[in-house]
Amino acid sequence: MERVQIAIPVRGFGETSRRDTWWLQPAAVFAGFTAFIVYSTWAAFQGEYYAYGGYLSPMYSPEILGDSPHAMLGPSPAWWPEWLPVAYSPTFLILWAPLGFRFTCYYYRGAYYKAFWADPPSCAVGEPRNVFRGENSFPLILQNVHRYFLYFALIWILVFFPYDVWNALWFEDAAGNVSFGIGVGTLVLVLNVVLLGSYVFSCHSLRHLVGGRRDCISENPVQQLAYDCVSCLNRRHMLYAWLSLVWVAFADIYVRLCAMGIWTDLRLL
Ligand code: FES
Repeated sequence: MERVQIAIPVRGFGETSRRDTWWLQPAAVFAGFTAFIVYSTWAAFQGEYYAYGGYLSPMYSPEILGDSPHAMLGPSPAWWPEWLPVAYSPTFLILWAPLGFRFTCYYYRGAYYKAFWADPPSCAVGEPRNVFRGENSFPLILQNVHRYFLYFALIWILVFFPYDVWNALWFEDAAGNVSFGIGVGTLVLVLNVVLLGSYVFSCHSLRHLVGGRRDCISENPVQQLAYDCVSCLNRRHMLYAWLSLVWVAFADIYVRLCAMGIWTDLRLL
């Protein structure tokens, strides 16, 4: 593939004739991402307090191997070396999928290129380099795997997270009897599915997949409808990206604090 290099007019780093507060957005993105990365890394390494009754933290879902009743295949094998992260935290078996999906998201790419790499810091603001290679060469060409991560995200949003909500509808009393109910935690996990679903179903790659790749989409009314729906959600993709990011962290905090006995889960039904 031919490498594209575009010479950028030389302008000192941060130099601009803009008079607005252009730095505010990248600064807010930097702070938001940093907070999420710090918290999610800390939560991933805990390996405990990620389940409470029928609730399972979305950061640990699905639990393939682990010590909670949600584990699909039971505890981790005892022969796994202790230094392996998956030996003490089940999330390391699955975390690559949601993280890969977020990291390669078209919106997030544009946001963290500006906020973390100053590439550029903002439109019409000088950057600390004078050559632009785009995403046509290594390593950024790897961002194209986003379309494949989308398939994993769809499995999460259509199978694993709805299953977690189903489990969050059943409560066991002290005598071991299980009954249907709704707790605040149930609503937290339902909202998590709604926000993550809005994020996944507004994905640019999904828009391409359901119809954008066709030359004449109006020939197929079903595809046209699907394309229109995704396009409609796509207009707020940035909003859903942030709301779902914040809420997935909050859902983990909620389950964690309930499991630690710091918060009490209020039973609504
Ligand atoms: Fe953001 Fe696909 S473009 S999730």
